[in-house]
Amino acid sequence: MKISIFGLGYVGCVGMGCLADMGHSVTGVDVAADKVKLINAGTPTVVEKDIDLLIARARKKGLIRATLDPEKAVADSELSFICVGTPNNEKGNLDMEHIYKVAEDIGKAMKKKEAFHVIAVRSTVMPGTNAKIVQIIEASSAKKHDKDFAVVSNPEFLREGSAVDDFFNPPYILIAGTSAKGLKIIEKLYRPIKAEIIRADVKVAEIIKFVNNTYHALKVSFANEIGRICKKLGVDSFEVMEIFCKDKALNISEAYFKPGFAYGGSCLPKDLNALNSMALDSRVGVPVIEGISASNKKHMEMVEKTIQEKNKRKIGFLGISFKQGTDDLRFSPALEVGEYFIGKGYNVCIYDSNINLSKLIGKNKEYLFNKFPHITEALTGSIDELIEESEIVVIVNKEKYFADYIDKNREKLNTKIIIDLIGICRDMSGEENYEGLCW
Ligand SMILES: NC(=O)c1ccc[n+]([C@@H]2O[C@H](COP(=O)([O-])OP(=O)(O)OC[C@H]3O[C@@H](n4cnc5c(N)ncnc54)[C@H](O)[C@@H]3O)[C@@H](O)[C@H]2O)c1
Repeated sequence: MKISIFGLGYVGCVGMGCLADMGHSVTGVDVAADKVKLINAGTPTVVEKDIDLLIARARKKGLIRATLDPEKAVADSELSFICVGTPNNEKGNLDMEHIYKVAEDIGKAMKKKEAFHVIAVRSTVMPGTNAKIVQIIEASSAKKHDKDFAVVSNPEFLREGSAVDDFFNPPYILIAGTSAKGLKIIEKLYRPIKAEIIRADVKVAEIIKFVNNTYHALKVSFANEIGRICKKLGVDSFEVMEIFCKDKALNISEAYFKPGFAYGGSCLPKDLNALNSMALDSRVGVPVIEGISASNKKHMEMVEKTIQEKNKRKIGFLGISFKQGTDDLRFSPALEVGEYFIGKGYNVCIYDSNINLSKLIGKNKEYLFNKFPHITEALTGSIDELIEESEIVVIVNKEKYFADYIDKNREKLNTKIIIDLIGICRDMSGEENYEGLCW
């Protein structure tokens, strides 16, 4: 395939070498004359394992070249990758200036082109950029998206230092766009690479790099904070993190990784508090760990705000224990939210088949009656009764019987406002009476 690459930095240069290695003919474009010169001399623009070999070999075979001229590059290709830089602007957002300039360059160049052209956005861009690029190209080329050209989002996941290897062995290949024709072309290009090709929503593809990289930064900072605490306590932090990483069921896994309601229960808040106190006692600053409970509190406040905004006074909670399948009410976030609304004079009712007041004992019972003295009046005997008494139904726990009930009683629920804290009925998204907590 004939490909052009806009931006010959880390992503562009590595992409050029690797795509040429797959047998494609690649024209690079950059505004920096020295980078263009380097490529044409068969030398990479970046230091990266194996890239010098790939660029030199491809240049020798006549598979790669570089130019300062976007028009020439577009005329000579079927697909253009946008790999220009997107640095932070003063406000911390990404500066899209280079992206939009390239989109305009490509659009102008396409004016003279008859054949269908695909533009794949490799750079990390703000959500909404794909649509903006479509607009810019339509305006500057007088051509139509999906008919004459297609813009596809295709974020790059390489890491500097192992970029060539990462190109050929990515965790997955993500493509997104509103042109089926464009997606088909890019999918075909990547077929020889042994990785799952995921088609995603455009804005999902655009935000994923921010999510990935923020999480990577969080991992580094978390491990460092654990290291700081361990050092003060005379504990081997390497051994701790090695053992931590061996748990692939709960620690390094999908567990706990869905947007939903706040955490609670008898363990997480208690042990987090304790670790925080150990750090405090040892005079170790741990802002990431410290921030966790503040974030959880914010989440609960968001539930309160979401309910309050509905301007109704009768709230029913489906579930009240700290998670499904348990009667443990200690530090249950729903209990706190319920108590908040009772304090404000709302009419609160609760249904949770795990809670049988006559069977509660020990600390759990003590906690409940201390925290929520009105529990006896608030508990209803059935979901039907709860629905009857509520204007807002808040789904707290992922109990299967809640999902089944909701499925079977859609009509009855149509007259109620549903606030879903855990995504149990996401298929109702878009319905007027449904609101997901963070989706
Ligand atoms: N570096 C990485 O490890 C990495 C990994 C994945 C994604 N990304 C993302 O990819 C994008 C590129 O990153 P990079 O590290 O390769 O950047 P870079 O700064 O190394 O290279 C960008 C290149 O774009 C060129 N350029 C700027 N305006 C141009 C224009 N109008 N026309 C042609 N070329 C132009 C610059 O001269 C430069 O050579 C960024 O959005 C980045 O966030 C980077």
